[in-house]
This record gives sequence, structure tokens and C-alpha cells, in this order.
Amino acid sequence: MADAEELLAMNLSAEQLAAAVAETTAVVRAGWSEHPHAAIILGTGLGSLAEHITIEAEWDYRDLPHFARSTADGHRGRLLAGRLADVPILAMDGRFHAYEGYSFSQITFPIRVFAELGASFLILSNASGGLNPTLRSGDILLIDDHINLMGPLVGQVFKLPHESLYDPRLLARSEQIANEEAIPLRRGTYIAMLGPNYETRAEYCWLRTLGDAVGMSTVPEVLAAGELGLPVVAFSMVTNVFRLDDTQQTTSEEVLHAASNAEPNLRRLVTKLLTSDL
Ligand code: HPA
Repeated sequence: MADAEELLAMNLSAEQLAAAVAETTAVVRAGWSEHPHAAIILGTGLGSLAEHITIEAEWDYRDLPHFARSTADGHRGRLLAGRLADVPILAMDGRFHAYEGYSFSQITFPIRVFAELGASFLILSNASGGLNPTLRSGDILLIDDHINLMGPLVGQVFKLPHESLYDPRLLARSEQIANEEAIPLRRGTYIAMLGPNYETRAEYCWLRTLGDAVGMSTVPEVLAAGELGLPVVAFSMVTNVFRLDDTQQTTSEEVLHAASNAEPNLRRLVTKLLTSDL
């Protein structure tokens, strides 16, 4: 019999998956009896949002059955339960990426746990490279559609909703808040690449004909949320913008630095969204 992690890396039957989700959910419920209003995944450089959460319980991913571990730069590896602006939330401080070698079953497993725990919506954040030449480093892109160039989500068949994967009410409310708070927020298409390297010049040139920003995450989580009927909103922090006359390669230092500079805007936006009547 394979252990739980090996099973997750393979293709679990629906029954095995449901049992694994129930097991992890029970561990979270045993440590935190609140009902989460929302679940948040803190992406690259946005981990400092965690400092603003009043933590009531936390688990190292190692202590959560069936959870993978975070290995990427700028990603911690803990699940937080507590309050942001007095609203009960769950937050993943560190996400799993396909380029770390995780299967799509592992990457999307936490989304299943959040849905089981009764979160009413999911907030995702990530860092991306701007492709649309009107974007500036530090802009936040409100993702309203995506192109999946990560390759096949091996081991997963998602039944997707007919309507938009990105919740129209959450999109509209986010735009309204950004307007009220004078936060630069753009709307557009996110392209997901497998990574882990940033794009070559030729890739950037091609990708800018397809969408507004490029990153290495989020799409698996959005697809899982779509299947589970969990409304989702996804914000992408634009940390570098490709220019045709650029000769420099993108570096991870540049990405982390820009993401942490722009973090207060996204924190304000997310906090207002959590306290909104939707
Ligand atoms: N490409 C892919 N992912 C990224 C980038 C990029 O330019 N910037 C931040 N994340």
C-alpha cells in the first residue's frame, strides 16, 4: 500500500480523494472551530499579508496529512487560520507549483479542503511578468481569463462550469474597491507557463500576442475551484514588464523586490474585499 503522499502524486479514485480530504479537514477542524469566510493563497512576495492576520491556529504543511511542502523562493510552508480585519479566514502561506515537481492532484488538494471546510470564496495571488506594454511594474492585474500553457493537468479531469471561471461579482467588487482606494488595477488574461525559468525573449514576444501577463501558477487552483463551485478571484502582481528593446533577463530578486513594494496595495484591496457585502 502506497503512503498518502505517493497516492496523491498518482491518480486517486474519487473515493480515495474524498477520504484524504476528509482526513485533512478533520485535522484543521480539530485545531480551529471557526467557519472560514474565505480562503487565500499568498503567492510570491505577498507572504507579508500573513503578518496582518491575527493567527488563531497554524499548521506546518508537514503536519497536515496529504499536503505537499513549499520549496520555492519567498514561499513559507504553513496554513494559517485566523482573522483578517476581523473576518475568519484560512490562508496558505506558500503555494505549490508544478515546476517544484508536484502533481496537479497535490497542487489542487488544498482547494478541495477549503471547499470542504465551507469557505465561501477563494482569493488567489501570484506574481507575473507584464506582457501588455501599457502595464507598469507594481500594477495589479485582476485576472478575468487565462490561457493554460502549463501542459496537461496530468491525473486530473476537471468538470468546468459553463460560465466564467472568474466570479463576475468578485471581479466587479474588486474593481469598485480599487476605484475607491485609487489602487492601480488592470483587468486581463493571465498565461500560465510551467517554468521554472522565466521566458526567453522569443517566448515573451510570442506570449504578448496572446495575453496580458505571464506566470507559473494559479491556473490549476482556478480549475479545481471551478469544478468544486467555489467562486474565485485572482490578483496578479506585475513585477517586471517585458519591453521589445530590453536586453536584460528577468531575475527572481527583481521579482521578489517589486512584489514586496506593491504588497500594501494588494493587502488593502484583499482586506476590503473580505469585509464587503457580496
Ligand atoms: N514570467 C513568469 N513568471 C513570472 C514572471 C515572468 O516574467 N515574473 C514574475 N513571475
